Amino acid sequence: MLVKVQDLVYGYGKEPVLRGVSLSANEGELVSIVGPNGSGKSTLLKCIAGICRPWRGKIEIAGRDITRISKRELNRIVSYLPQETTPPPSLLTVYEYVLLGRVQSLSGRVAVPEEDHRAVLETLDMLDLTSYAKRYMNELSGGEKQLIYIAQALARKPKILLLDEPLNHLDIKNQFKVIRLLRELTRKLDLCVIIVMHDINQAARYSDKIYLMNNGEIVAEGPPDEVLEPEILEKVYGIKFRIVYDENVPQVIPIG
Ligand SMILES: Nc1ncnc2c1ncn2[C@@H]1O[C@H](COP(=O)(O)OP(=O)(O)OP(=O)(O)O)[C@@H](O)[C@H]1O
Ligand SMILES: [Mg+2]
Repeated sequence: MLVKVQDLVYGYGKEPVLRGVSLSANEGELVSIVGPNGSGKSTLLKCIAGICRPWRGKIEIAGRDITRISKRELNRIVSYLPQETTPPPSLLTVYEYVLLGRVQSLSGRVAVPEEDHRAVLETLDMLDLTSYAKRYMNELSGGEKQLIYIAQALARKPKILLLDEPLNHLDIKNQFKVIRLLRELTRKLDLCVIIVMHDINQAARYSDKIYLMNNGEIVAEGPPDEVLEPEILEKVYGIKFRIVYDENVPQVIPIG
């Protein structure tokens, strides 16, 4: 397993926010985490990214205890896109911003290795963002910025990609483009992708496995058709759902 979380307990104050969470994700897998606001999804992702240190339980990355992996090494393996991103320095172009994800700093360098330039160009091309390369970050729309954040995370070429609501702010075509690309890259590059999202239908269509969280716990996990049961969803979200199938993919319809 590339990512293995066992009985994870973590909180910000006295009370735990994650109350014994276990999750695993492997190479070539796209795993999504869904659940109501405040259920602990972002906190779980932050723990896997090495930002929050577990109170109890264990997180293993590629078979190694996360607490024994240096920040530098973890940065090479894991790319994490938080739910809220701090605005990039306004004077950076899109190209420089994406490059910054690879080299960490643009100042004081004699030359950026060719490989880094190549990775940036490739990634911008994959996301159809080449025409944005010279634009300034602070002159982009919310959704355009979001696409660049995703590009930066991808350009780092991680083994593990952690994305917290990456499709926020994107129009429906871009949502589709990004999630399709992520799915493709997961297979092609044997990536391990863990995505937090609210759109259960998108999760159902593109995930190998879904984890449904509620109140700091995983209440259901497995392939989409096992997790998307009306009774489970009703218990978690407090509204009724109908499940329909579209080309063998379960899709939920909230019916109040
Ligand atoms: N920095 C923080 N300090 C204190 N409490 C926090 C902090 N971040 C999150 N919390 C609390 O921890 C709980 C879980 O928050 P988390 O952000 O993990 O939820 P989430 O499932 O990602 O929600 P959303 O869907 O709204 O993004 C919430 O009750 C939240 O108020
Ligand atoms: Mg969140």
